[in-house]
Amino acid sequence: MEKLIYEGKAKQMWTTADEDVLRVVYMDQATALNGKKKDQIYGKGVLNNQISSLIFEYLAQKGIENHFIKKVSPTEELVKKVKILPLEMVTRNVAAGHFATRFGVEEGKKFQTPVEETYFKSDKLDDPFMNDSQILALKIATKEEIEKMWSISRKVNQLLTDLFAKMDLKLIDFKLEFGKLKNGQIVLADEFSPDNCRLWNISDNAHMDKDVYRRDIGNLTTVYEEVLKRLKRVLMEE
Ligand code: C5P
Repeated sequence: MEKLIYEGKAKQMWTTADEDVLRVVYMDQATALNGKKKDQIYGKGVLNNQISSLIFEYLAQKGIENHFIKKVSPTEELVKKVKILPLEMVTRNVAAGHFATRFGVEEGKKFQTPVEETYFKSDKLDDPFMNDSQILALKIATKEEIEKMWSISRKVNQLLTDLFAKMDLKLIDFKLEFGKLKNGQIVLADEFSPDNCRLWNISDNAHMDKDVYRRDIGNLTTVYEEVLKRLKRVLMEE
């Protein structure tokens, strides 16, 4: 019998007959401000599943090992069971969002070297910033594991910055999550979609990501559909 083992803000995770495999269900739900703003958005689950599946397949082809196995329905995918590390690894190529507000800089300033930040995943605590010594003190990950996660994040940044550029999009920033397989190997997990990255149109800097919902400046499904359309076009040409 399949059991619901986790329900997040936009996804559910179910067990399957194979103890090493989980089924992810993408829901039609958008949240912002750590769940304080919440809406049902018809069609969002299908879009996130499609975009994330294509990106995880692309990353796997390029040598980035991740939990994705296959998409099994418009809103569902199978993934390898991993133990998620309670960390959000954020990479920023350009100042935006909380970096801009926290340090009082304008959105759009490009960094010479990408900024790397880690947050402790906890809805209850509002995902506080966490530095390496805090991660080590709480034994959340080892030094080697932290280095491994950043090394994968840097490769993902390079691959996706190039891929999105072909889609006329700038990859401004993104958040990754990692998990450990049974054998201890760290792999990329969670999802990659406009929910967890910022994408700006190269031509006019228009927001093509969840900021349209967070800031009430556009229609989320229209924007995600456009990202998916461009992604499919570029992947066909690859
Ligand atoms: O809000 P902030 O500017 O710190 O977000 C940086 C990047 O991390 C954005 O792309 C955002 O979508 C992503 N993020 C996320 N989940 C969070 C916090 C941030 O996907 N809980």
